[in-house]
Amino acid sequence: MTTITEIAPDLFRLSIYVPDLNLQFNHFLVRDERPLLFHAGLKGMFADLHEAVQTLIDPKDLGYVAWSHFESDEIGGLNNWLENAPQAEPVCTFIGKVVSVDDFSLRPALGMTPDQHLSTGRFRFRFYATPHLPHGWDAGMMFEESRKTLFCSDLFHQFGDVSPLSSDDFTDATVEAMRQMQQSPLAGYMTYNSNTRSMLSVLAQLQPKTLATMHGSSYSGDGESMIKNLSAAMKAIFEPA
Ligand SMILES: [Fe+2]
Ligand SMILES: [Fe+2]
Repeated sequence: MTTITEIAPDLFRLSIYVPDLNLQFNHFLVRDERPLLFHAGLKGMFADLHEAVQTLIDPKDLGYVAWSHFESDEIGGLNNWLENAPQAEPVCTFIGKVVSVDDFSLRPALGMTPDQHLSTGRFRFRFYATPHLPHGWDAGMMFEESRKTLFCSDLFHQFGDVSPLSSDDFTDATVEAMRQMQQSPLAGYMTYNSNTRSMLSVLAQLQPKTLATMHGSSYSGDGESMIKNLSAAMKAIFEPA
C-alpha cells in the first residue's frame, strides 16, 4: 500500500513501508506542466506506485524520471515508467548517464552537469554531483530552486514507519540508523572520504527548506543546520579518532 502525502503544494511523497526491513521507500512526484518523479522505485513496487501516481496525474504525462544513483530502489522501475510514459526522459548525473544508464535505459538519459538547469514549468531544478555521497560514483542530489527542496536520497535515513514530514531535528534517528547499518552485513552503506564534508558543505549552503528523504521522514525547516549536524555526526561515526 502506498501512502501519499502532499508535503508542499504539488510536491507529493509516495511512501511504501516494508515491515520486514522496518524501512520506508519514498518517492516524490512534482506535479507541474511536465511532472517529475524522483526515484523510479524498485521494479517490484512499480504496480503499486503507478496506481498511486494515477491518483495525482495521468502517468502518461510524466515528463521526467530522476534519481540519485544507480541502485534498484532508485532506478529499478525506470523502464516500466518509460514504457508507460512516451515523453518521459530519464534524468541523472552526467556520470550516471555515461557509466550505466544509457546501456540500461530504454531511452538515453539527460545527464546533468552542475551548470545546467531543468524546468518542469513552474519549478526549476539543478543536479549537484556528489560522487560517493551517499554511495556510488554516479551519485548526485537534485535541488529545486524556487522552493529550495533538496532531493537527498539516502542521506538522513531513518528506520521505522515514521511520519511523512517532520520539522523536528531527527539527526539522532539518522545517527542510530548509520550505526545500525555499520554493525550489520550492510556495513559501508555511507561512504566517508576526504571529500564528504566539503560536498555536504556545498549542499548546506543551498539552505534547503525541505529535505526529501528516501528512507524516513522528510524534513521541513532549517535544512542548512540539519546538513551541518549530519556532517558533524558522520565525522564522529566514520573518522578515526
Ligand atoms: Fe542508495
Ligand atoms: Fe535507498
